[in-house]
Amino acid sequence: MCGLIGIIGKGLDMRKELIEGLEKLEYRGYDSAGIGYVENGQPVTQKTVGQVARLKEKLSSPIKAEMAIAHTRWATNGGVSLENCHPHISEGKTWMIVHNGIIENADELRAELEEKGVHFYGQTDTEVVANLLERTKFVDPIDSIREVLKKIKGSYAIVAINKNYLDRLFIIKNKSPLYFSYDEGSVRVASDTSVFSGKNFISLNDGEFGEINLNNFKLFNKNGKINKKETKLEKTEINRKNNSNYYMIDEIHETIDVFKRINCEYKDLKIFNKFDKLGAFDEIKLIGCGTAYHSCLIGKKYLEEAAMKEINCYIASEFNAEPPKLNKNMLCIFVSQSGETADTLLAVEKARAAGAKTLAITNVPYSTISKKCKAYLPICAGREVGVASTKAYSAQVVIFYMLACHIKGVAPSLKGLISGFKFPDEEKIRELAKKLIKKRELFLIGRGEDYRNMLEAGLKIREISLVNAVALPAGELKHGTLALIDEDAIAIVLQTSQKGMEKVKNTINEISSRGGKVVFVSQFDPPCEVYDSLKLCQVPQKFMPLSSVVTFQLLAFYMTLEKNLNPDKPRNLAKSVTVE
Ligand code: AGP
Repeated sequence: MCGLIGIIGKGLDMRKELIEGLEKLEYRGYDSAGIGYVENGQPVTQKTVGQVARLKEKLSSPIKAEMAIAHTRWATNGGVSLENCHPHISEGKTWMIVHNGIIENADELRAELEEKGVHFYGQTDTEVVANLLERTKFVDPIDSIREVLKKIKGSYAIVAINKNYLDRLFIIKNKSPLYFSYDEGSVRVASDTSVFSGKNFISLNDGEFGEINLNNFKLFNKNGKINKKETKLEKTEINRKNNSNYYMIDEIHETIDVFKRINCEYKDLKIFNKFDKLGAFDEIKLIGCGTAYHSCLIGKKYLEEAAMKEINCYIASEFNAEPPKLNKNMLCIFVSQSGETADTLLAVEKARAAGAKTLAITNVPYSTISKKCKAYLPICAGREVGVASTKAYSAQVVIFYMLACHIKGVAPSLKGLISGFKFPDEEKIRELAKKLIKKRELFLIGRGEDYRNMLEAGLKIREISLVNAVALPAGELKHGTLALIDEDAIAIVLQTSQKGMEKVKNTINEISSRGGKVVFVSQFDPPCEVYDSLKLCQVPQKFMPLSSVVTFQLLAFYMTLEKNLNPDKPRNLAKSVTVE
């Protein structure tokens, strides 16, 4: 949630550096964007409501500063407005800060400050922190930070400028990612390593804070000064194969390369070393949010067959609301593309506290969830920028398959998947999309695994095309929802096994006989007359969820384009949800 960046460097084109950095971080939030620096001894900010492109237009002249901070916001505390756009400056103008996360006790701290006469310009918790720093009156800014950390509760990645120390940035981290990296003559701090161009980076842990300048850094935690090791920066260039305008479509098209990458990486059985060290377990629980949770619903089947145990899947926030009984003989598997999702992270903490064995399946090896779990498996999806998760979902499903093979003791292979996988006819999907966007709602129907995959199809269509696509188990239709079916209704029916063909015919008839239209999606021909159909590529049965999900990702993408919306930046959402 929110992207932030701080830069110190001599001779840099600061305007270009900040805008390019913000553009890379924009997938984390795009409600407003702003930059801040000190000019003639005074803090200056330039801000816009809306996307970074608007800020770029506004910043016409070069920025004459060797140090600056910038932020792209996903609104939490305080509405989407210019006053709430970061950076925020303390009333006395000593501190200017950008912040990701939520200060949970901001309201009471604000009230205390107001009583002391502080005037606030906006509603954010960030402005509260800036003023708390100002009010400490310590000479050394690090002492001020130490003091403020005693007062604030919640999650925060903060980068701050103190106008009396114009050679350094101050940084603070708790439960929200923060990294910094040196590169020839410059240093950058950011909420995401994608903005770095150096060879290595340093990752802050919760409770750490300090200062960085061009040559050096000093970091502390509650026990005093600390040392830090650098991590090698993996270059995560985005594959813009088709030169298209959207990350989402490129990322869907990368799916097959992701399968090949996983096939290659998982040949090295050392990848399972840490997992093997977890030891025996007698129960497995799978936990994630949104798309990551949906991948658990598919992965569950592979693992159940391998471990010969029934497995439960949990939406992380529900797991936290009503935690199941946990013990040290359980394996809890946490799935997250970003590895930073706050709900999933809290679930990891609960599982750890109960002594359960923890395994992370993520796309970011140095992410908080990857580090907090005892063992880690990479999904090898490459950087995913589109807010709608696509290739990462497919990768997560495949990793479950690889893990299941490992548990069974058989060598994993994706041969049949890689050779059989073909992208569906996109022109046909686009034609169907044109018809579907005329509807406010869509019924997505399947049985068993097809139903579970429809949950992901529904999420994808809802989040980007803003059509209320609701997944239903086929057998449930007649227990209530059939009441909604009339001549105006469209249902998409997914059927990926020959076995259920007779039953699916009944489902289609139930809908058609009430005047509803049916779109049949399958590798097989429709068993009776339907309004429209989409053909899936035939891959081994166990991989059919991957064939079908890509079709629905494309359908969601084209529905969104047909509605003239931006599939990469859906309304009200952000890629990495680091607040509960
Ligand atoms: C997917 O399209 C969504 N944007 C969302 O549901 C996402 O999968 C969820 O927020 C979990 O994110 P994570 O995988 O980074 O933990």
